[in-house]
Amino acid sequence: MRIVSGIQPTNEIHIGNYIGAIKQWISLQEKNECVFFIADLHALTTPYDPKNLQESITKIFISYIAAGLNPEKSIIFVQSQVKEHTELCWLLNTLCPIGELQRMTQFKEKSKKHIEYINAGLLNYPILMAADILLYKAEAIPVGKDQEQHVELTRSLAKKFNQKFGETFKEPKALMSKEGAKIMSLTNPKSKMSKSDEAKSCIFLFDEPEEIQKKIMSAQTDSGKDVIYNITKKPGIANLLTIYSLLTDKSIQEIEKQFKKKNYSDFKKSLAKVVIDYLEPFRRKQKELLSRKVYVQEVLKQGQRRALTIAQETMKEVKEKMGLV
Ligand code: ADP
Ligand code: TRP
Repeated sequence: MRIVSGIQPTNEIHIGNYIGAIKQWISLQEKNECVFFIADLHALTTPYDPKNLQESITKIFISYIAAGLNPEKSIIFVQSQVKEHTELCWLLNTLCPIGELQRMTQFKEKSKKHIEYINAGLLNYPILMAADILLYKAEAIPVGKDQEQHVELTRSLAKKFNQKFGETFKEPKALMSKEGAKIMSLTNPKSKMSKSDEAKSCIFLFDEPEEIQKKIMSAQTDSGKDVIYNITKKPGIANLLTIYSLLTDKSIQEIEKQFKKKNYSDFKKSLAKVVIDYLEPFRRKQKELLSRKVYVQEVLKQGQRRALTIAQETMKEVKEKMGLV
């Protein structure tokens, strides 16, 4: 099965991104043909500093590798280095009703957040995402819950294209982690953990042990003292239990039992240790990769070449079908 996914080079990767997306990628790459990229073109749709963009791209790439992506198995590259993404995006623009774009939750939320920067790219963002996916004729898209609507739109564009120009694309499906598709913020467990929020609401992949300890110990919890999973009454504890469970492969019930006679503080201390130990090899790998600039460039170059081969073939077919050749 062909798999596609990507992450924007905005800020650093946090455990929400890891649990919701990257953790799935790591296991999928074993048995599938995987295409993972750094979505730098998407990152231009919200305010950013061009001076820092290349560094952010490298950081995301290092996070991918440190977390376990293997360039021997997966195709890993930078979106803007394969021009076919923008070419297909334009063609799909001509098939997409504006109304569909205006009702996208992410567009509405980001427009509210960046009121001074509501650009056409922000509106058309899901079409570029559809192009990213369809260019590789992917079937499954491992993402978090917030991207589900964009994958749905991709399905509908694939269907429209096939109806109008003949069978060309597979209709892709979002692959979501059963429990971890929406990890919540540590400071506000009613909203999702997000790169653009305050640092203490996220645990970043390369946070030092002391930072992790501090963030978890001060994570917002609920009234009461029992460590029980109750998403409506105890959203804070429920979120921490979810993280604990997904990083240890223990069931929520097992963890509840483990902390039956203990309090929130005991539970948080134990969770901090779980997270610190889990991320330790990531931090080690990151430090090693930071000094291997040539390797980073080589892997991205090789990824670009492999991606181009597939992308050019799809574009040839698409252009023929659309009457452009
Ligand atoms: P953010 O919203 O933090 O800036 P991105 O939009 O770059 O993150 O998301 C990268 C990937 O991580 C996407 O697949 C997205 O669905 C997933 N993701 C983002 N936040 C979370 C979260 N809190 N829980 C689970 N998955 C998430
Ligand atoms: N929009 C995604 C996000 O913000 C990133 C992304 C861009 C993506 N293109 C994609 C994800 C294609 C999956 C497939 O997280």
